[in-house]
Amino acid sequence: NGKVTVQSFRKMKEKGQKISMLTAYDYTMAKLVDQAGIDAILVGDSAGNVMAGYETTLSVSLDEIIYHAKSVRRAVKNALLVVDMPFGTCSGDPIASLHNAIKIMRETGAEALKIEGGEELLPDISKIIVAGIPVMGHLGLMPQSVHKYGGFGLRAKSDMEAQKLKADAKLLEQAGCFAVTLEKIPAALAEEIASSLTIPVIGIGAGQKVDGQVLVIHDMLGLNQDFLPKFVRSYAKLGETVTKAVSEYITDVKNSDFPSASESYERPAQEAV
Ligand code: KIV
Ligand code: NA
Repeated sequence: NGKVTVQSFRKMKEKGQKISMLTAYDYTMAKLVDQAGIDAILVGDSAGNVMAGYETTLSVSLDEIIYHAKSVRRAVKNALLVVDMPFGTCSGDPIASLHNAIKIMRETGAEALKIEGGEELLPDISKIIVAGIPVMGHLGLMPQSVHKYGGFGLRAKSDMEAQKLKADAKLLEQAGCFAVTLEKIPAALAEEIASSLTIPVIGIGAGQKVDGQVLVIHDMLGLNQDFLPKFVRSYAKLGETVTKAVSEYITDVKNSDFPSASESYERPAQEAV
């Protein structure tokens, strides 16, 4: 495989090769995902949901995303490492946004940042790109703006919203974003955007006719049992596996079946003087 870079992203789109991406938030999981040969790993602010148990991603801080990103960095060899800019850290004050972006890049070893927002955030995004930091856009369902919409429903249902989304995607490409994520929008609209852009479009709940896919690892492994929207495919039932293993352990402890003699230490034989 070899090291994936933002340049490989563009080449994959040119060659019509689909891009695979998953989230990771810790060293152990990131190592497994990277070794499996994934193209890109996202340290998503979904860490707030699946790692911290927050209701929304609005509670995730810069320091929290940096902690997760540093943990993932130590594990990742080949995948492109993308880190989310958390709520409030890239929000219409370009100088402040640039400082936050630099802090993440410097302290974590990230190779790119992902930023939710379109036209409104172009000054911030452009400033960050000028500094040499690759940016992945994120349009459609933007969980950091949940209160603006009043929920996590399908986005770009109306013509007006769809037009705005198309225009935003174009603007992000023109600003120099190396890719854009489209979340929870009609598949036909995502297809239209993917074919009109030269940069890769990574979909989540955006249908198959885009240039790549991203999922939250806890969702696709069946670890996150309270969240199963239809765009998630279940590739494992690790939640059930964990519950079963823990139940067996409890039984073994209660019955004094664990530990056995072979799982215990003996005093070593004394050496002759
Ligand atoms: O935070 C996240 O996991 C994301 C992906 C779902 C795109 O932004
Ligand atoms: Na995110």
